[in-house]
Amino acid sequence: MYQVKSARLLAENVYETWIEAPHVSRNAEAGQFLVLRIDDEGERIPLTISGVDGDCVRVIFMAVGTTTEKLAALKTGDAIHDVVGPLGQPSEVHHFGSCVLVGGGVGIACLPIIAKALKESGNSVIGIIGARNKDLLILEDEMKEACDELIITTDDGSYGIKGFAAGPLKEICESRPPDAVWVIGPAIMMKVTSGVTKPFGIKTFVSLNPVMVDGTGMCGSCRVVVNGETKFACVDGPEFDAHQVDFDLLMSRQRFYHPEEKESREHHHS
Ligand code: FES
Repeated sequence: MYQVKSARLLAENVYETWIEAPHVSRNAEAGQFLVLRIDDEGERIPLTISGVDGDCVRVIFMAVGTTTEKLAALKTGDAIHDVVGPLGQPSEVHHFGSCVLVGGGVGIACLPIIAKALKESGNSVIGIIGARNKDLLILEDEMKEACDELIITTDDGSYGIKGFAAGPLKEICESRPPDAVWVIGPAIMMKVTSGVTKPFGIKTFVSLNPVMVDGTGMCGSCRVVVNGETKFACVDGPEFDAHQVDFDLLMSRQRFYHPEEKESREHHHS
């Protein structure tokens, strides 16, 4: 059993939970994920490791289905049946020079840990975080601290620049092209935003979020097509070269699954 060390609401329907899981926290690297099961009959859910502190790991998620709603209801001291991880390949962190990290909606949760790793490798890091409106924006302070510069966008203009993150990303690509870019958010946002860097030939990573069941490469549910080849996001990813991902296929597969569809719809424009 794994204990919940703290839990809080970050934004409407978005929760942050710290879980004591030393075997995960001690080995976790930026970009990896864990799979948890709340009780022994529960469904397994994959969640990005969005922070590490001693023996604890942090997950940030939107309550969009039975399991995530159950997870959202857990309080400090409650137990989680199993936590498996870290899983997946770590982010490709090395000295690039200058990097831009773009996050949309709950996808912002993945960024601080990558920003810190990139800074430690001697990169300069610009963050661009976007949400539908000010109340849905998460981790602003943490991103401010982790990045050299932080740009905020909201779809409705209630905070920061009005519009999508793709706008400021394009300006940066034109005025001071970065050496590497990460774009993490709903599939449609990753497709559109990573399309911005393509004509500039800038190396761009996305973290794919297909449906996962076992998280260990056995079930095939997380298959994606990258550069014409079938890959399993759980073992070959979750990060891939954005310009080689078949996003249309990813989105059509996600549509079979209601919670993901709802999340994608809610964050369509994040
Ligand atoms: Fe089963 Fe990836 S989740 S193969």
